[in-house]
Amino acid sequence: MADTLIIGAGGQIGRELIPLLEKRSGKDGLATADINDCPELPGFRKVDVLDRKALFALFEHERPSVVYHLAALLSATSEQNPQKAWDVNMQGFLNVLELCVSFEVKKVFWPGSIAVFGPTSPRNPAPQSCVLEPTSIYGITKLAGEQLCAYYFRRYGLDVRSLRYPGIVGYGAPPGGGTTDYAVHIYYEAVQTGRYVSFLSEDTRLPMIYAPDALRATLELMDAPAASIRIRTSYNLAGMSFTPKELAASIRRKIPDFEISYRPDFRQAIADSWPQTIDDTPAREDWGWKPEYDLDAMTDDMLGHIQPIYRLGS
Ligand code: SER
Repeated sequence: MADTLIIGAGGQIGRELIPLLEKRSGKDGLATADINDCPELPGFRKVDVLDRKALFALFEHERPSVVYHLAALLSATSEQNPQKAWDVNMQGFLNVLELCVSFEVKKVFWPGSIAVFGPTSPRNPAPQSCVLEPTSIYGITKLAGEQLCAYYFRRYGLDVRSLRYPGIVGYGAPPGGGTTDYAVHIYYEAVQTGRYVSFLSEDTRLPMIYAPDALRATLELMDAPAASIRIRTSYNLAGMSFTPKELAASIRRKIPDFEISYRPDFRQAIADSWPQTIDDTPAREDWGWKPEYDLDAMTDDMLGHIQPIYRLGS
């Protein structure tokens, strides 16, 4: 039995959340699952969210009070395999929601995304409520997913909470297959080779957040009294917004010779359909959200963690 179960625990958010949740529930209070083998994770079981039998066995064994369901394909990977994106992001989520109702789980977290916005949404900033016509299959699954959050709350009283994450930048675990991943890779390349080829054009402004802020937001949302959660779809969450060119300038403060060039690929169209900035007023009002890191503070902290690794290695 475990107090908290993290599904999709081997990904970018899961790996960063584990140490924080371990502090709260202790190692024994935490169970983790992922489609990939991750024996290093606490209380780990290999489970595919599309395998209902295995998922049922996991819930029956752990009987968790709190579930973080993080298993998903990100935007770029989804675009390359829309059918699989739908299966994992939608059917996988439905399977988990059904089990959460059956096993009377008390609280559920599900990661939403700024990808729910589309070309017809206001871009600067994107408000909490507006036209939502996403053009990427990932955005479509995230939009349907956040509606499922609200539906399961209304219909079954399941306390599902969600954030529309911007691109998450961190050094704790690598992202995989996202349109915003450039903002992570650039730091590693800057330290290792001094140059980076960006797959987004120089002026592509996107909403981003530094991982420590994203994780704090997640825990603050989960800790908030249920009565204060007025948005039952998914909360807009803002950290900062910047372009590849601005990020390169921020890195150059510390690595003056750093060079960036631009070779946009299919991810440019995804980025162009997303907002540039996010209005997160409801998150601030309802549960006191406030980001700490701006671009330069994030760069200083990222480089402060990455540079020593490669200095030691060289
Ligand atoms: N960071 C994600 C992606 O690029 C957006 O939710 O796919």
